[in-house]
Amino acid sequence: MNEYAAPLDFAPLFASGLPAPAAKWNGFAEYNFIGGHIDADQVPLDGLIKAMNDVLAREGRTLATYGVSSGPLGYKPLREFLAQKLRRSAGIRCDADEILITSGSLQALDLVNGILLARGDTVIIEQATYQGALTRLQRLGVEAVGIPLDSEGMRMDALAAALDGLKSRGVRPKYIYTIPTVQNPTGTILSETRRQEMLRLAARYGVPIFEDDCYSDLIWDGKRPAALYAMSGHGGVIHVGSFSKSIAPALRVGYIVAPWALLSRMLALKTDAGSGALEQMVLGAFCPARFDAHVPVLNRALRAKLETLMDALNEQFGTAAEFEDPKGGIFLWVKFPEQVDTQKLFAPALAAGVAINPGAEWSTDQSYGKSRTRPCFANPSHETIGAGIAALTEVCRREFGMPARIANVERRARG
Ligand SMILES: Cc1ncc(COP(=O)(O)O)c(C=O)c1O
Repeated sequence: MNEYAAPLDFAPLFASGLPAPAAKWNGFAEYNFIGGHIDADQVPLDGLIKAMNDVLAREGRTLATYGVSSGPLGYKPLREFLAQKLRRSAGIRCDADEILITSGSLQALDLVNGILLARGDTVIIEQATYQGALTRLQRLGVEAVGIPLDSEGMRMDALAAALDGLKSRGVRPKYIYTIPTVQNPTGTILSETRRQEMLRLAARYGVPIFEDDCYSDLIWDGKRPAALYAMSGHGGVIHVGSFSKSIAPALRVGYIVAPWALLSRMLALKTDAGSGALEQMVLGAFCPARFDAHVPVLNRALRAKLETLMDALNEQFGTAAEFEDPKGGIFLWVKFPEQVDTQKLFAPALAAGVAINPGAEWSTDQSYGKSRTRPCFANPSHETIGAGIAALTEVCRREFGMPARIANVERRARG
């Protein structure tokens, strides 16, 4: 064996500051309540297949060029659909060239962060928020100041106090990140009055708003306030959205709405030579005729699953599981009694086949998140939701002694 045959050790060569290695994927848990998956039965397959065939037959040869002859902002018919849809549903007036298609809205978060943030910066964010936003900020070395929410979304008194406090320390936050329309994880919708107040505060303190609207199509009654982007009279808002929750997350199609002065800076950072074109072409062919009819069908299915989840929690946990009925979306934000630490519940629950998101990972405040969890109800079947919550109850009782008696057992004992 020659002296060069020993396996090369890459460890000393890794760039400094890499994040911890990813865990290997071992398949989904039997009762999978994590992630932001959607309902498999509601992926509009027939329509997508037809759209794919039509668009490939018509324009497939444009795949020979990067950007399918639409340029680096993304497939033009999809951007045109978005411009028209955003105007109709969210009041946003923009044209197709103020929209950049991204590889999921996660890439949109990276691009917005990329043009605005540097190590040591401060941003304002909802106290309970999307883990993907929090981990990005941690990695960038940016301080995230959490603002509490109530049933109407981010609390404006707390936002005003935070902006004031930061100003008195000479800190100008780089943005206010908000998920105003069906917030992740709380499912709240920021009221119109609060939107006006947020815009007023943002203008007063000279802070941009970063509006993440990726759940805004998933509202039970279909009614939403205008987007902050639409309501702002002075610019200062960057709007991000996604097809992940309304059509399918694996397509990886998201978008950013912003003036060219900002998009041009983001494009300079988007070094992937364009997001996958086939997905964009399929959506561009599917959406104009079928998106509006698809969404209410999807929402009815999601609402039914949410009810199954709330019923299962009420039945199994009784008053030990507190939650507010969300206005839409795919998550329920559940609070257990103080003695339950969902980070400690995670491993034994997984061993019993139940995957849950510990609340502390979805919050800027560990003690606030400690007893909370955020089940995603969209992907498991009704039966799996029921059986999964029953299994979680068993684990919770074994590990934390609560609920003291499982409600259905109590009922059986009485009957
Ligand atoms: C608030 C929020 N923003 C962005 C994303 C990223 O979604 P995607 O990259 O699939 O568009 C998610 C995913 O769950 C989310 O909850």
